[in-house]
Amino acid sequence: MVPPSRLPKLLRWVAGPCVAVVLVAASAACSGGEESSGPPVTGAAAEGQQLFRTNGCAACHSVDGSDGVGPTLQGLLGSQVELQGGGTVTADEAYLRESIVNPSAKKVAGYSAAMPARELSPSEVDALVAYISALR
Ligand code: HEC
Repeated sequence: MVPPSRLPKLLRWVAGPCVAVVLVAASAACSGGEESSGPPVTGAAAEGQQLFRTNGCAACHSVDGSDGVGPTLQGLLGSQVELQGGGTVTADEAYLRESIVNPSAKKVAGYSAAMPARELSPSEVDALVAYISALR
């Protein structure tokens, strides 16, 4: 039998690690739900989503329709894009690819910021194109 005077200490001793475990579990659950915007993606698109974050694309491009430093990439595939200096282009996969590999080749009208070119392997570009294509 534990004397009553020792109970609080004992409780603290037991509760301490429990609280720590709960906090770790909660933060793990939070980081799992980190992507709150955009549709769930799988396969190559999921790899592209990862690259989209690690290469800083997300700093300038939203995937939920909101405007940023650069245009949102939601619904881009198949849409008509107005270009700086006039004219439009249909955003097919070749256009997405070119926009990533050689950003200054075709500039979207209305955006003054310059998109930096990144060192990406062909398979990384494929994955990014798959991801952007999945953003309906
Ligand atoms: C510093 C901000 C910035 C970063 C970082 C950036 N972009 Fe951009 N991006 C822009 C701007 C501004 C435009 C529009 C002007 C243009 O066409 O260059 C653009 C245009 C695009 C377009 C064409 C959009 C359209 O509506 O036609 C695609 C696709 C694109 N970016 C993908 C990416 C990807 C993928 C990455 C990461 C590898 C990335 N961007 C990183 C600023 C950025």
